[in-house]
Amino acid sequence: MSTSFASATPVTPDRDWWRRAVIYQIYPRSFADGDGDGIGDLPGIRSRLPYLAALGVDAIWLSPFYPSPLADGGYDITDHRDVDPRLGTLEDFDHVVADAHRLGIRIVVDIVPNHTSDQHPWFVEALEAGPGSPARERYIFRDGTGPDGSEPPADWRSHFGGSAWQRAGDGEWYCHLFAREQPDLNWDHPEVRAYFEDTLRFWADRGVDGFRIDVAHSLAKDLSHPLRSQPNLDAVLPLDGTDPLYDREEVHEIYRSWRKVFDEYDPPRMAVAETWTPTSSRTYLYARPDELGQVFDFSLLKAQWHPEQFRSVITRSIREHSQIGGAMTWVLSSHDVPRHATRYALPLDTDLYAWLAGDGRGVELDEATARRRARAATLMMLALPGSAYLYQGEELGLLEVADLPAESLRDPVFERTGGELKGRDGCRVPLPWTSGGPSFGFGADGSWLPQPDWFGAYAVSAQSGDRGSSLELYRSALALRRTLATDDDFAWVESGDPEVLRFARRDGWECLVNFSAREVDVPGRPLLSSTGDLGPTLAPEAAVWFVPSAPV
Ligand code: GLC
Repeated sequence: MSTSFASATPVTPDRDWWRRAVIYQIYPRSFADGDGDGIGDLPGIRSRLPYLAALGVDAIWLSPFYPSPLADGGYDITDHRDVDPRLGTLEDFDHVVADAHRLGIRIVVDIVPNHTSDQHPWFVEALEAGPGSPARERYIFRDGTGPDGSEPPADWRSHFGGSAWQRAGDGEWYCHLFAREQPDLNWDHPEVRAYFEDTLRFWADRGVDGFRIDVAHSLAKDLSHPLRSQPNLDAVLPLDGTDPLYDREEVHEIYRSWRKVFDEYDPPRMAVAETWTPTSSRTYLYARPDELGQVFDFSLLKAQWHPEQFRSVITRSIREHSQIGGAMTWVLSSHDVPRHATRYALPLDTDLYAWLAGDGRGVELDEATARRRARAATLMMLALPGSAYLYQGEELGLLEVADLPAESLRDPVFERTGGELKGRDGCRVPLPWTSGGPSFGFGADGSWLPQPDWFGAYAVSAQSGDRGSSLELYRSALALRRTLATDDDFAWVESGDPEVLRFARRDGWECLVNFSAREVDVPGRPLLSSTGDLGPTLAPEAAVWFVPSAPV
């Protein structure tokens, strides 16, 4: 396979590239299928690198491509240092890194340290070795409670529904905060610590530029006896570092030791923490310079299309980051949440997850509203200081596929909640590259999740070159951002209208976001707008980057 490098600028050593980067998340099984088996793979990704270079991203973050029985979409790993044979080989991975680097794109890989697959050799060994064996020490095995030990050791609940404990055949129980096929590791065990530090080195040696750390807040647990109750898992965490499972103070010591590993490299490797704790000052601690440097701030992703919600999360994030010296992150969509175009088009009081469980019936989704608001929010996000994480397909304006038939669903959430929640497959449907053909150009044959007919209209080929398309808006915005976003300076500017947000960046450019149903005046010379219109007024539910008029 050959990749064209004409006009590309290769990556050059830079310690701080990630501080203002646009990082594009690839969910490998759904991006591009190189061998026609219906599953996206590394050769597919490699063939689409020129597309990503033309889009203008600085880096790609690859969700897990490691060997996995797929109990949780690849986040159940049997070997953290290899490639799933369905997705390619280590050699394919090396080609992706080399080609990406030549095209000026850096590589971030996912590290999943909280758990392994139940097919991981360590867990297989632990089951075989039996109670009391050293092999069990790498995981969290405990006796059950109740007169015959048939009750779980504690009341901890899995994120995917049901108990977080599973009984092994010999009567002991093991802890799994996610699916039962994802046993939690014991982070008090030195071998577990060494294994992950070596895994970081393994990928850094292969040329990766950074790491996204899965459920980074869960590694340290209070496993002292008696195990503490976790009645508040679904409610509010204590937010003081004393919860038995989440965001414990000790977890930071793990990341301080990882920082030493990152700093063994020149330039040092970057990292970003995924934490889903309720956002508080503690959330940002993971981004301290002697730890990971970045943490996903999901508060923007959780905010609804509403000026006050956006304003307050942006204000808090910038304030908190400036206090700890970490680099800001902004995210609107990911492989774990319904796509933002869909979220913003539903009435504010819609129960999103109930709506999805009902296959998107009941509340009509207006595509034009989705398009307007998603574009405006994206332009706003890309104007903020720090780095922005995009999720594959959002550049096409893709909506959530809300009506996937139950028999096609793969997310364990569906089964573990007895069908009450539909899970995350609706944002993982393989991408449409062409308006027709098998699997809309995803591959030479079908796709592992069914694509709806309307995907054709959203295809890359249908949007490329169309100046009014979502794809061209992203391309223009990323190109302009490269020239404009040169520092982290930010200040709110009073717009005089509660439905209009306005903020200024250094070097005289600003962003205006109109949440109202009225046109508003653009107080300067427009550079780029979410509607494509560069006139003196801004349409309803739109955003514009502009150079402000000199004060009179
Ligand atoms: C993270 C991942 C999610 C996965 C979970 C368990 O939240 O983003 O997809 O299911 O961790 O690994």
